Amino acid sequence: MNKLETKKSKELFEETKNYLVDGVASSFQKSKYEEYPICLERGNGSKVYDVDGNEYIDYIGAFGPALLGYSPNVINKAVSEQLEKGSHFAATTLDLCRLSKKLTEIIPCAEKVSFQSSGTEANMHAFRIARAYTGKKKIIKFEGQYHGWSDEEKVTIDADYINELGPRENPKKILHSKGQRGEAVDDIIILPWNDLKILEDVLKSNSSEIAAIITEPIMCDSGPILPKKGYLQGIRELSKKYNVVLIFDEVITGFRVALGGAQEYYRITPDIAVFAKAVASGYPLSVVAGTKEIMESGVHASGTFNANPISVAAALATIETLENNEIYDRFDILGRKFTEGLRELGEKYNVKLFSDRIRSICMLIFGMNSSPKDFRDYIENADIELYEKFVNKAKEYGVRFTSRRGRIYLSTEHNEDDIIRTLKVVEQVFYELFIVH
Ligand SMILES: Cc1ncc(COP(=O)(O)O)c(C=O)c1O
Repeated sequence: MNKLETKKSKELFEETKNYLVDGVASSFQKSKYEEYPICLERGNGSKVYDVDGNEYIDYIGAFGPALLGYSPNVINKAVSEQLEKGSHFAATTLDLCRLSKKLTEIIPCAEKVSFQSSGTEANMHAFRIARAYTGKKKIIKFEGQYHGWSDEEKVTIDADYINELGPRENPKKILHSKGQRGEAVDDIIILPWNDLKILEDVLKSNSSEIAAIITEPIMCDSGPILPKKGYLQGIRELSKKYNVVLIFDEVITGFRVALGGAQEYYRITPDIAVFAKAVASGYPLSVVAGTKEIMESGVHASGTFNANPISVAAALATIETLENNEIYDRFDILGRKFTEGLRELGEKYNVKLFSDRIRSICMLIFGMNSSPKDFRDYIENADIELYEKFVNKAKEYGVRFTSRRGRIYLSTEHNEDDIIRTLKVVEQVFYELFIVH
């Protein structure tokens, strides 16, 4: 198997660094484990192409939005038609009305919706709504979960060692950026995930101050970590018992695990849910959805680009495409083939690994053979360095995996041939990592 030549990517990164801070537009676009990121020229279906002319089978999915693959015809057509009419008016449109109605039909918790442009903004809006509705201030957020990069959101999203997290009953609030204000997280309570006892203890003694619990229904951004049986149901019951708003951050799970998100998949309906990424197949759009009573708490959405017509057209076309339910069955078939293949290679090369899947989200963790219980378990037991080495080597053979935390995104454009080719690359990488030096 030949390694790809990526000389131009390297040169371009060196050049870009002269003008662009860090040489990338988002800190997640270059892993600390790679010397330089690959510079891409175009994408098509399940593949992307770099400036050196190399093709990659891609499982990064543009960090999630590329659920229909890259440059999908249905989205291109909808967007081009809208472009002819105008890209932005900052006014209500017929399509905005259609999209709002559609979302209330497909998302279980959605009686009313509100639009923003990014997941970060939508979660900020959800916090504000929960506070307005309850008249309380504090928000429970779980260790390792990422809800965005505002001062209040970017707290305890990561750690290199378990002791950075502090005691399990009272985890530390870790700030992740210079310039971030410590006071901004005064009203955030950090707890370990998948532990109903700790959650109930905190709710019991502080419920008069707690406005909301925010959680990803599946910890995708930081693991991935599956909810224990009964855990989401447990949070739902506790949040009702203690009069706290339950927010599901479905920025990743939304549209990826079912049309109505993880709340449809698990049949647990939160009070509010937040969607972004895949909703508009690569165009910036986010949605806060919730019950009429909570959504009408007098919190108004502002933002010049909220629900811009291009993104709205892309979202309508995305949903129309996904309404073909066979898409989710296909994800099951492909995901099974992929993750079974990974587990078989693990056995063949004697590599301890965990690999599972839920619809279009597949998972790969080295050093563990079952889903981590929580973020601490992941930090303590997952072999993160090995995973990063694996990602870098796979890239050299034309397969792109996300550098962070073993999250593998399938799109509707991936096919069996992609999986077979990918497993061959994985085998080559395992051979190099574990057999020859
Ligand atoms: C679960 C989750 N919530 C929120 C966000 C923030 O979304 P955005 O990057 O669109 O601001 C992300 C981004 O990766 C995410 O994974």
